Amino acid sequence: MEPKVNNFEFSEKPEIAVHETDILLIGGGMAACGSAFEADRWATPQGLRITMVDKAATDRSGAVAMGLSAINTYVGQENTPEDYVRYVRNDLMGIIREDLVFDLGRLVDDSVHLFEDWGLPIWKTDEEGRSVDGHTSKKNEMPSLRDGGKPVRSGRWQVMINGESYKKVIAEAAKSALANNRKHTGVDQNHFERVFIVKLLSDKDDPTRIAGAAGFSVREKKLYVFKCKTALLAAGGCVNVFKTRATGEGQGRAWFPVWNSGSTYAMAAEIGAELTMMENRFVPARFKDGYGPVGAWFLLFKAKATNALGEDYQEKNKEESRKLYGDYVDSMGTCMRNHMMMIDMKAGLGPIKIHTDVALQKLSETMSKKEIRHLESEAWEDFLDMTITQAGVWAANNMAPEKVPSELMPSEPYLLGSHAGCAGLWTSGPGDFGPEEWHWGYNRMTTVDGLFTAGDGVGASGHKFSSGSHTEGRIAGKMMTAYCLDHKDQTVDYAEDPEELAKEIFMPMETWGKHSGYTTDPDINPHYIRPAMLQQRLQKLMDEYVGGVGTWYMTSKYMLEEGFYYMEMLKEDSYHMCAENLHELLRAWENFHRILAGEAHARHIHFREETRYPGYYYRGDHMAIDDENWKCFVNSTYDKATGEWKIFKKDYQQLVA
Ligand code: FAD
Ligand code: ADX
Repeated sequence: MEPKVNNFEFSEKPEIAVHETDILLIGGGMAACGSAFEADRWATPQGLRITMVDKAATDRSGAVAMGLSAINTYVGQENTPEDYVRYVRNDLMGIIREDLVFDLGRLVDDSVHLFEDWGLPIWKTDEEGRSVDGHTSKKNEMPSLRDGGKPVRSGRWQVMINGESYKKVIAEAAKSALANNRKHTGVDQNHFERVFIVKLLSDKDDPTRIAGAAGFSVREKKLYVFKCKTALLAAGGCVNVFKTRATGEGQGRAWFPVWNSGSTYAMAAEIGAELTMMENRFVPARFKDGYGPVGAWFLLFKAKATNALGEDYQEKNKEESRKLYGDYVDSMGTCMRNHMMMIDMKAGLGPIKIHTDVALQKLSETMSKKEIRHLESEAWEDFLDMTITQAGVWAANNMAPEKVPSELMPSEPYLLGSHAGCAGLWTSGPGDFGPEEWHWGYNRMTTVDGLFTAGDGVGASGHKFSSGSHTEGRIAGKMMTAYCLDHKDQTVDYAEDPEELAKEIFMPMETWGKHSGYTTDPDINPHYIRPAMLQQRLQKLMDEYVGGVGTWYMTSKYMLEEGFYYMEMLKEDSYHMCAENLHELLRAWENFHRILAGEAHARHIHFREETRYPGYYYRGDHMAIDDENWKCFVNSTYDKATGEWKIFKKDYQQLVA
């Protein structure tokens, strides 16, 4: 096909806006909001400019968009940071960066206390040991957590909240921090919403150093080029890279938030940052089709899940699984729970059901009518707060969870680093805890000078959840300030010409303008592929060769190598994506990011010759865990110029007994 050239002959040239700042925050989720808050405390008094760029509207963007019903990481008085390390290590099959996890564990509670200060209602336990919801406990002026108030623990680490407006509360604090920074620095605008960042820009004299980022508005035809001294890349994890279980009318419904399309991993890889544990993924077992959360049901309401014969599949399948996974079956981490469930599903012993009805009946045995009604509304609220769709699925099927059990299902895989998974970037640790080689200057800085990450971006350290991601953003916010002060006299400038960036970024629109008249059906055209079609091809490829739901998460060296061939074909075709409008341009660039994130995932799985995460994925040619050879990190770098990956081992070190 003819080479791609964009001189804006067939599409309108965008306006180009250049914005200069000191600290650039990419993303507007928990991590970036934490960064804005903390950077304001340190950077504003120094006259440093802070800018946040979110692809969506920050009030409701990212994984907390719909709200949450629990804060999953609160250490509290009952636990220590060392306990937290043990818990995360257990759940992530023995391989985590203990320096990063410990560091988070010692700081995370402060963010939770701030959330409460900012108005988030947190459930409390009263003197009789009864749970009082967040709204009532506020109304009754029960002591805050900071003042010794006792939370309602759903599990050892989780505390219950009235969290429908959780993200709005966090965003408000971030926005007022940005406003404060504007006031003190005299900058007109430092919060850009609905601007999708496409690529990071490195310094013209030093390609290993960050100098900015470029993206476009999804509402007006405008290219944005940001110049910065330091940047936080916190654009969440990756959804919709694998074929989804939801099809037809349900297509688009996913567990993970639709905004997060692998930008963190792809843009970091493209600028040369080292990735870690990209083989890891998260397969959440959820209420089927609605993706309702299970944690509160298992932990707070003590519901049991069984196979079709009423058997406890975890107990039943434990000893058989021990043959491949040894003592790891005893810790029964998140992937292992999936594994036990899938054994029975594959044997035709599904549907797997969670007995919400029995759990509620049992809990209500000793309760008054009023208390039962309260319990039922708490159970519903668990969904109405964070997964309203689940309530819709029940209503549509004439089901009420207090009357009948519900099906559980393992979902399509997602790539993330802050929930029960640990894909991400290799970052510097805190310095005062952990080996020297894990500390190269600034806490949470990647291997690219001046580029930081947090939340889903920091690899090898999952189970941070919302509070931990916010905390990590705060750590980075403070460190970015230090970075700016230490490099006060250094000037940075990116190598790229904004005119050329505009041509590259808006190429899919030129393709559309040039060729869309060629056929009567705009979907079928020899000169281009529409982003929706390319996405389906990627999802099919990932599903079939990289272990998606279609193969029960099974892959192997052979399947992956076959898949790499088709991925090359897909990459070739991706340059022929078209965009009829700005929305489709967004879809096109999301696909570029997804492809690279998906490829990193596949390449890492190919490198790690064992099944470290049964229940998340299986290497059919290496079905066991092999601690002798593989109790280590798998890291990689990508060379954008050649398209080559370097993948290598890094030693794991245990720091907490
Ligand atoms: P996010 O909060 O997801 O933010 C990512 C941000 O990046 C968004 O603002 C997005 O718009 C932006 N973005 C993406 N791409 C780009 C781009 N290219 N350019 C610019 N901006 C971009 N935690 C709990 O504590 N309790 C719970 O009950 C709980 N439940 C959860 C339920 C679900 C369904 C999910 C998905 C997560 C849940 N979590 C929970 C975990 C928690 O939400 C995450 O750990 C946390 O939000 C991660 O923070 P983050 O900033 O890394 O990503
Ligand atoms: S979330 O989407 O709401 O965050 P989920 O409901 O699965 O996820 O989990 C909430 C918390 O409960 C997480 O900390 C998770 O690790 C924990 N959890 C969920 N199910 C179980 C279980 N069966 N046993 C122990 N912990 C669980």
